[in-house]
Amino acid sequence: MLAAVKVLATRRYPGPAFDELEDVEVAGLDALGAPRKDLDGLIVANEPVPLDLLPALKIVANFGVGYDRIDVAGCAARGVTVTNTPGVLDAATADLAFALITAVRREIVVADRFVRSAGWSGSWSEGGLAEELSGSTLGIVGLGRIGSAVARRARGFDLRVLYTQRRRTDSELGEYRELDALLAESDLVSIHAPLTPETEGLIDAGRLALLGDGAVLVNTARGEIVDEPALVRELASGRISAGLDVFAHEPAVPAELLELPNVVLTPHIGSATRQTREAMTRLVVDNLLAVERGDPPLTPVRA
Ligand code: 8YV
Repeated sequence: MLAAVKVLATRRYPGPAFDELEDVEVAGLDALGAPRKDLDGLIVANEPVPLDLLPALKIVANFGVGYDRIDVAGCAARGVTVTNTPGVLDAATADLAFALITAVRREIVVADRFVRSAGWSGSWSEGGLAEELSGSTLGIVGLGRIGSAVARRARGFDLRVLYTQRRRTDSELGEYRELDALLAESDLVSIHAPLTPETEGLIDAGRLALLGDGAVLVNTARGEIVDEPALVRELASGRISAGLDVFAHEPAVPAELLELPNVVLTPHIGSATRQTREAMTRLVVDNLLAVERGDPPLTPVRA
């Protein structure tokens, strides 16, 4: 019989699959004082891995599709496999992007506050009118799995879809544009790129200025892809609106955003449905069990 991999998990990850790990210890990485030669596997949620303290490590199973805080090349150099959870979170993240697009475009949070503050007095609200969603142009930055799921949802909302991505490929999901052209032409822009050295700060002050007056920027990918101080300035001016699920220094949210009516804020909940988070744990555990059996991991990340 195979010896169970001994796993350190930085928290108890949600769902029944977690209980299939025979030998698992739940503790934060901060608790690792001295090297632990007994650990073969590590489960993290996009957290930096202290490789020197884990000399026998075989696999880092990341709970999440994004692994920007994990030194994949450093792991590869020591023969440590890194896996992530692609695919299983596409629908939940695309749903949240659409929820933010809709909430910002139709000013739903402002309307909710209006009702709660007893501001609604007539039989229907004769306050400010929002912009129509149907018929507008959605620009998708990164037409990968999640971006494609957003594009498919856009069809149901009668949106015209533009997309941009690193390597130009044709897609029946929309029309390709270079990034700058996409920003200038879109009423709504939704970001679905991974955080890499290439995408960090990609949407800088100059690119934000390309957005038309009244445009909506939605980010459910990574905060660092946008120049956050520049975004805060644009939003404070009231020229554009935004739906933000991610921030450059989570959990810190720029204080200026908290009072702005043209911003909807959520705390990095793109994948936060019970079904999706349980499926992520399932995939994390399946990767660990594959390594335990001596099989190739299901969803390895390439260095
Ligand atoms: C997770 C995410 O909440 O998958 C990702 O890249 O950002 C989210 O699904 C996060 O990674 C924590 O694991």
